[in-house]
Amino acid sequence: MYSSVLEESQNPEQINYTVDVITKKQINCETIMEYKNMTKYEIIKWLREENPEELARLWHEADNTRSVNVGNEVHLRGLIEISNHCVRQCAYCGINIKNASISRYRMTFDEIIECAAMAHSFNYGTVVIQAGEDYGLDTEFIGSLVRHIKEEFGLAITLSLGERKDTELLSWRKARADRYLLRFETSNEQLYELIHPPSNNIKIDRVELLCKLRNIGYEIGSGVMIGIHGQSYENLADDILLFKKIDLDMIGVGPYIPHPSTSLGKNIKKMNLSSNLQVPATELMCYKVIALSRLICPEANIPSATALATLNLTNGRETGLCRGANILMPNLTPVKYRSLYEIYPSKACIFETAQQCQSCIASKIHAIGRAIGKGPGSCKKRNTGNTDVGKICSKF
Ligand code: 5AD
Ligand code: FES
Repeated sequence: MYSSVLEESQNPEQINYTVDVITKKQINCETIMEYKNMTKYEIIKWLREENPEELARLWHEADNTRSVNVGNEVHLRGLIEISNHCVRQCAYCGINIKNASISRYRMTFDEIIECAAMAHSFNYGTVVIQAGEDYGLDTEFIGSLVRHIKEEFGLAITLSLGERKDTELLSWRKARADRYLLRFETSNEQLYELIHPPSNNIKIDRVELLCKLRNIGYEIGSGVMIGIHGQSYENLADDILLFKKIDLDMIGVGPYIPHPSTSLGKNIKKMNLSSNLQVPATELMCYKVIALSRLICPEANIPSATALATLNLTNGRETGLCRGANILMPNLTPVKYRSLYEIYPSKACIFETAQQCQSCIASKIHAIGRAIGKGPGSCKKRNTGNTDVGKICSKF
């Protein structure tokens, strides 16, 4: 599946040896260009780096690259978690269909519009409409939602609704949705199949789907979880290279956080790797991946994820912003639904209102000397801020 777009893979047994060789060969990247063209083994070296002085250099270079390429502004994407229904059985995700222990909700049209109105009043440039793969949110419902938000508030709209049908994706694009988020989760085909069983035996290649989304004019966002069981350093380096290969407009990464009501959380069907090959799901590893993603994809929009706040509520998100990220996603979901959108446990911002998140996020941005972004904050290289629907390719 993904092998066609990845460089030749290497036997995991060879990794330790290779890493030793790389560690001895001091990496001397002097320009942003050199960082952009980092090899897989240079990436692995950084992922394994523990020396504080070397890491300080990585943070500095990533922050510098962020400043030169996407500037000082932190763009805000207001997140509306519109439904926790999901037909899929992802082994890592707390809202998967098999989890009978959560109550399911689906927001009404008016409730969603109220959240979009709040985004508008807070001057957020974008709303992210996210849900499980929920076919109760039908083509027409999402289409009219998109049209309404565009007409009434003129916000940029990101959809994150899973692997939907080509016809739906096209119709929402025609309704003027600007962006689509779909994490490919891991570029290791075997691991992907284990954690993400197909629906009705139909295998969807998410990378192919992202390319289709790009062809019909969406800005595309994707990413992976960091430290999921079975993810090796080599896999994670491949993931980062794949971000570049598919030229993502947005790169979302965050720590894997085990959910006790999932098969992975219960240690069922887990892919075990020896501890020296397994990527740890740590805060430090997340910063490394954010920094490397920035160096390798300098113009991408990169959020400092809410999941980082789960590992470090005090300053996880600010630290991400200082190590390459330029986006935050304040939550707009009504408080009565927040705890039900439990993709992983102990999520940050479960009890805070949209207003509280707005002022909290603003103070975090000001505290690190950055500015709040104005406008849609589209990916600079595409700059599709006001979508030209005329450019939509009719062939999907
Ligand atoms: N830990 C961390 N991230 C998770 N996601 C889903 N479940 C978890 C978990 N247990 C992420 C996936 C998904 C996104 C919406 O949330 O990457 O694509
Ligand atoms: Fe929600 Fe800080 S962003 S409380």
